[in-house]
Amino acid sequence: MIYSRIIGTGSHLPEKVVTNKDLEKILDTDDQWIRDRTGIRERRISSDKEPTTVLAEHACRNALEAGDVDPGEIDLLVMGTTTPDLIFPSSACLIQKKLGLPDCGAMDVNAACSGFMYALSIADKYIRCGDAKKVLVCGAETLSDLINWNKRETAVLFGDGAGALVLEASEEPGILSTHIHANGNHADLLNTAVGVSRGFEKLAENDGKAELQMKGNEVFKVAVRTLGRIVDETLAANNMKKSDLDWLIPHQANLRIITATARKLEMNMEQVVITVDLHGNTSSASVPLALDTAIRDGRIKRGDMLLLEAFGGGFTWGSALIKY
Ligand code: ACO
Repeated sequence: MIYSRIIGTGSHLPEKVVTNKDLEKILDTDDQWIRDRTGIRERRISSDKEPTTVLAEHACRNALEAGDVDPGEIDLLVMGTTTPDLIFPSSACLIQKKLGLPDCGAMDVNAACSGFMYALSIADKYIRCGDAKKVLVCGAETLSDLINWNKRETAVLFGDGAGALVLEASEEPGILSTHIHANGNHADLLNTAVGVSRGFEKLAENDGKAELQMKGNEVFKVAVRTLGRIVDETLAANNMKKSDLDWLIPHQANLRIITATARKLEMNMEQVVITVDLHGNTSSASVPLALDTAIRDGRIKRGDMLLLEAFGGGFTWGSALIKY
């Protein structure tokens, strides 16, 4: 049996820190409201010189270095992003060139905030079927480019960043299972409704830029319910109990959603990796950023059982159970 194992992780954040207090100066909002409703204290915002692929390149280099992997060894690059630099070439192709990867397959996966869970699932399947031995998986976003900075409902929630990991084929687990889902019936609740063929009239509403729109309250309720279901599904698929888990590494959208999932899993908050306070919601980047943070600071150790999960626009959602 072939499994895929994580052999290196990395991450990268833009330099510019924007605190809640900074946002108080430009929006009708306050630090207390943001912290109470979301758990966010600050976020990083990229400059014009730090588009998604620049953040991703740094995160990938860190992951390759941590795994002691030469770029020439990579068989596949899978990149979760909903904010690619360009429509095409894909961000994966741009990063492939920056890193000097061989002529391996390179693809973007757009599943909004679940992009990294989708990318990880694809990478795992390529390794399990024997078609790849080392795969680079990345989640990177500059959602700040999709924000209307005059709208407090969304402007306070998001941040930019990138996370990455290298998977290697192994006889030992590794990733035990991945699960991905989608339901396209609620596109009206969370979207950026501008594309190649439609939505251009909306650009005028945000200084010529595409704009993320969200009915936060309704998304919140669906997210809590859906994440509850997917953690049940993941444990059942592996015949495991809640108490078998060492760590929850959740999508970092909102501390209240994270707390609800931890409560369902009967985990105490010391077993949950939280970065939403410092990063905000970095979409596809949030799970690999949180994972890398807790691996590098020594909390997550080899042999620990990890549950990763995410929920995002589409709606999309996904999870992975990993023996690290
Ligand atoms: N500062 C101050 N007040 C605010 C702000 C703000 N930044 N934003 C909204 N308010 C006000 C509203 O106007 C409203 O006022 P009213 O009662 O007078 O009408 C009040 O606060 C409550 O607003 P709600 O939207 O009901 O607040 P809620 O408790 O739902 O929190 C939030 C909003 C944080 C957005 C929450 O609903 C949430 O986290 N939703 C889920 C987000 C998520 O998980 N998204 C999925 C991933 S994202 C992706 O895929 C790209």
